[in-house]
Amino acid sequence: MSATQRWTEMIRAEHAQSDSMRKDEPPADSWSNSAQQFRADPRRTDDGLLNHLRQLVTPEQVVLDVGAGGGRLALPLALVAQKVIAVEPSPSMCRVLRETAAEFDVRNVDVVESGWLEAEVGQADVAICAHVLYVIQDIEAFVRKMERHAGLVLAVLYQAPPQSQVYRLWEPVHGVPRLPLPSLPEFLEVLEQLGVAPDVEVVRTERNRGYDSLETAKEQLARRLYVTPESPEMARLEALLPQVLEEKDGGFSIKGAIHLEPRVISWRPGA
Ligand SMILES: C[S@@+](CC[C@H](N)C(=O)[O-])C[C@H]1O[C@@H](n2cnc3c(N)ncnc32)[C@H](O)[C@@H]1O
Repeated sequence: MSATQRWTEMIRAEHAQSDSMRKDEPPADSWSNSAQQFRADPRRTDDGLLNHLRQLVTPEQVVLDVGAGGGRLALPLALVAQKVIAVEPSPSMCRVLRETAAEFDVRNVDVVESGWLEAEVGQADVAICAHVLYVIQDIEAFVRKMERHAGLVLAVLYQAPPQSQVYRLWEPVHGVPRLPLPSLPEFLEVLEQLGVAPDVEVVRTERNRGYDSLETAKEQLARRLYVTPESPEMARLEALLPQVLEEKDGGFSIKGAIHLEPRVISWRPGA
């Protein structure tokens, strides 16, 4: 199996497992419950990833943000670039992006409400794609289209899947191990297959404080595990929490969870 086939297969298997655990229909916009979490002050200075990306952009450049979400990166980068084209398919994410742009008076962001493969956009100097690729099945077409639209491509991925900290709860709750999404190692194999030799930089970031309270931890973990109230799975999750959670720095986190830190994978297409 080629690297691109393996990538697609991992996503399909993960999605099929999620579907088999779901008790209800998935929402039409999967970000409707969490889009507000992607609202951030575009002038913040304490975000390691943003500070890293800011240095790579100059005032005359057009930046393309593929999967811009609520504008966590698009809006601050617009403040240092000529303009940002923000491509984002989720209506709730686009709403947060537009509202935050208005709130902070950022006027040089064009929002294109579309998936990347369907998007019609002009050329840019830099294409950024942060924490999007883990679920992109047609990875080759997605990457190649970014290459056609910019002279520098910056993909941001964690060294492991974003929800990998929760994976170890799957077996005790559901009786089966979680099938993982692809992340950095598989992406580097994909790029090798595509003939791309990128630079990879680790961005040092603060450890997340974890969940604010035990109740929030239970709610969020239940959502990620597709566990519904008063089910046998919920009883197993509740019994597990005291063993797997630890209280640290005023929050609750999963014991032994790895610290997810972003990697910036960059290359100049055709170089
Ligand atoms: C985890 S969020 C990251 C948002 C933003 N890049 C950030 O780092 O804050 C992933 C985003 O990718 C978007 N996305 C998913 N599939 C996409 C696609 N085919 N084309 C463009 N964006 C996509 C989602 O709608 C979501 O807003």
